[in-house]
Amino acid sequence: MKYKVLLTREIIKEAMDYLKAHAEVEVCWKKRAPEKREIIQKIKDKQGLLCLLTDRIDREIIDSAPQLKIISNCAVGYNNIDYHYAISKRIWVTNTPGILTETTADLTWALILSVARMIPEADKFTRKKRFKGWDPLLFLGKDVYGKTIGIIGLGRIGKAVAKRATGFSMKVLYWDKIKLQNKEEKSIGVRFEELENLLKEADIITIHVPLNEQTFHLMSRERIYMMKKGAILINTSRGEVIDEKSLADALEDGHLWGAGLDVYEKEPEVYDKLLKLNKVVLLPHIGSATYETRLKMSMMAAKNLAMGLEGKIPENLIDEWKTVSS
Ligand code: GLV
Repeated sequence: MKYKVLLTREIIKEAMDYLKAHAEVEVCWKKRAPEKREIIQKIKDKQGLLCLLTDRIDREIIDSAPQLKIISNCAVGYNNIDYHYAISKRIWVTNTPGILTETTADLTWALILSVARMIPEADKFTRKKRFKGWDPLLFLGKDVYGKTIGIIGLGRIGKAVAKRATGFSMKVLYWDKIKLQNKEEKSIGVRFEELENLLKEADIITIHVPLNEQTFHLMSRERIYMMKKGAILINTSRGEVIDEKSLADALEDGHLWGAGLDVYEKEPEVYDKLLKLNKVVLLPHIGSATYETRLKMSMMAAKNLAMGLEGKIPENLIDEWKTVSS
């Protein structure tokens, strides 16, 4: 008998084919994120669920699937799943770590440079045929080379961002709840700073922490205003880590030079004031969006799902599961 699995959205064809070879597959919806009631309706007789970061998998959904063995999230972040509850019911939860690190670090750097050099604004200006010749005062941005970057969260992606910063001869500070060994700090070229000192010292701050109870609004109003005047704030992690309203205020009153955001507090909604400000570059959550990386993510999520269904311990169990099983 083939296992029955539910996919909340259609994923890349290769991964769909792989899954179809291993299970009976039902897709909630091809083009948009399904509503909760659609998932509840379709998950009843399923043993596996492959979901995306846009799907909130809560207790009610989990309780609607009495045969559920595994929830495979096609994302590295898994704050969208009530994983504590899933673990309490002995349901595997997996994610897709490692493979999107470099792609997300690249996008972080694209945002840093876009904000500092006002690339989207300059592009719009040129397209509107407003370029009338070289102008000594046109689009005067900020240097990135040789500045100080503050990395909040030095996990896989934070380290990949740090590695790129050394190519810009930057001083690289970081804050994380765990300080690295001095030897490792030296090899990456980073220095630990307490969060408040880092906020005061860095010209560019970039966030790479997961979203959880401790990191919700980590960048509170107070901390945003602790940042150096004229600094830049970048976020490619999760929107809820920043108090978006306070960020918009700090951009509007000129405390910050600019911001680059790939994620939002009430995604996919973007805080209205941010939409009206020129000094912020806004992207539609595309940190991992290259064909190569999305293919790897989809295949990893599909393989995790198949392993869980076949009774093997899936390769990419979330960290919280690893501590339970040991
Ligand atoms: C993207 O945001 C992810 O968590 O994979």
